[in-house]
Amino acid sequence: LRVLSVASEMFPLIKTGGLADVTGALPAALESHGVQTCTLLPGYPAVLRALTDTQRMAVWPDFFGGGARLLQARFEGRDLLVLDAPHLYAREGNPYLGPDGHDWPDNAERFAALSFAAARVAWGQAGVEPPQVIHAHDWQAALTPAYLHYLGEGLPRPRQVLTVHNLAFQGRFDRKVFGRLGLPMGAFTSEGLEYHGDVGFLKTGLLLADAITAVSPGYADEVRTSQGGMGLDGILRWRAEAVTGIVNGIDTEVWNPRTDAHLAARYDEDHLDARRHNRRAVEQHFGLLPEDEGLLLCMISRMADQKGTDLVLDALDALLKGGTRLVVLGSGDRELEARWRSAADHYRGRLGVQVGYDERVSHLMQGGCDAIVIPSRFEPCGLTQLCGLRYGCVPIVAHVGGLADTVIDANDAALRAGVATGLHLRSVNHEGLVNGVNKATQLHADRPTWQRLQRAGMLSDVGWEASAARYAALYRRGVGQ
Ligand code: ADP
Ligand code: GLC
Repeated sequence: LRVLSVASEMFPLIKTGGLADVTGALPAALESHGVQTCTLLPGYPAVLRALTDTQRMAVWPDFFGGGARLLQARFEGRDLLVLDAPHLYAREGNPYLGPDGHDWPDNAERFAALSFAAARVAWGQAGVEPPQVIHAHDWQAALTPAYLHYLGEGLPRPRQVLTVHNLAFQGRFDRKVFGRLGLPMGAFTSEGLEYHGDVGFLKTGLLLADAITAVSPGYADEVRTSQGGMGLDGILRWRAEAVTGIVNGIDTEVWNPRTDAHLAARYDEDHLDARRHNRRAVEQHFGLLPEDEGLLLCMISRMADQKGTDLVLDALDALLKGGTRLVVLGSGDRELEARWRSAADHYRGRLGVQVGYDERVSHLMQGGCDAIVIPSRFEPCGLTQLCGLRYGCVPIVAHVGGLADTVIDANDAALRAGVATGLHLRSVNHEGLVNGVNKATQLHADRPTWQRLQRAGMLSDVGWEASAARYAALYRRGVGQ
């Protein structure tokens, strides 16, 4: 079965968050299910630089206001199509934001172009064999079903799956942009692109795709409620039969404590003592003194309202008492970054902060810290708790979305049964956070109990195998293969 995955990010070529991890790891897991995935990406500078051997498959001289080429390439075992359109993508840095930290003013055209290129591939107009299934990710690819629907008469129609990674990002634009999308006027209605008088990319994809997935079963439920639906819950309820939740995995080769070259010491669930060397390396990196006792917490996160990092900032007095220490790696919101920097001065010796993005340090933290705190206000899936489970870095998570689906709370029953893998916060606020960390401190003081939590987490299944099978089945439904 041939699938074209359409996405604005893919690890390790270009990444701002978990979306890239998913699009980077899922194709390999699908191979054993007879699914061949090719990923269509925008030709950002970072992507073009990394590809040494590309083949030009199509040239489109007038493509959303400039010339474009469709390139084919292979990269670390992955099949790629790259939309090289310099007028849209030849911009360094974050794929969505300009140097001023604001969205690029032409983001609607930039990602409509990606979707239209996908449609052309499906129609056999790109010099490559058309896919039977298109898997579009998030708003950036969500107009693909619209191009297929409004411009595809008499042309091949692949099955269309749309995955929602985060409803907070909807691709909503002023109606002015509609005229630049190359769609017929009749598409600007409530059955098409119109969304409360604006143009809604994700909204349109949710209406028109054959199947919709959310990145965890919990999130699939939440998006159909007014609380979690961010305005799109009505459409998602209406399309309830098309919606399923398929939980993300992580790449268990990239994230493997037995072989991880980023660690100071490698280990497995029977050699947890070796984590001590990673703890030393973390302490040194963050300018903390070596200490064997006491809970060493970490946080690895985008700094955004969603992630609740502000709750941790506000609770530092209560959290960093006793022997508890915290190390933080993150970037995003400028104001939160500044608050974390000054907190690092204020709590010197107990708090270490690195503002920025650092793959290596994130591995080291998972391999050396006792627990990872994830107090998200909402979390479609979350990947850092899965990395934490795999590395024996016990997740302390908000009871929302994919966090609640993937971490088994250390309540009395689960502890007695030996199945607990982490802690759920009772509520995502100051009190819930402080109580959760206090409970972790108590459990941590009892070494055998803590090690049981670590081992149960390390043995839990966080890979892609089970979910890849579900995607493969979903692709095949209706394709007759
Ligand atoms: P989201 O996509 O909402 O940001 P996820 O938990 O799904 O959240 O994915 C985040 C991914 O980005 C994980 O792979 C995590 O390890 C990584 N990550 C986040 N912030 C940083 C950072 N500052 N440095 C390194 N990796 C980070
Ligand atoms: C989004 C969500 C995150 C999820 C990721 C990958 O960025 O915020 O929860 O894990 O997508 O699906």
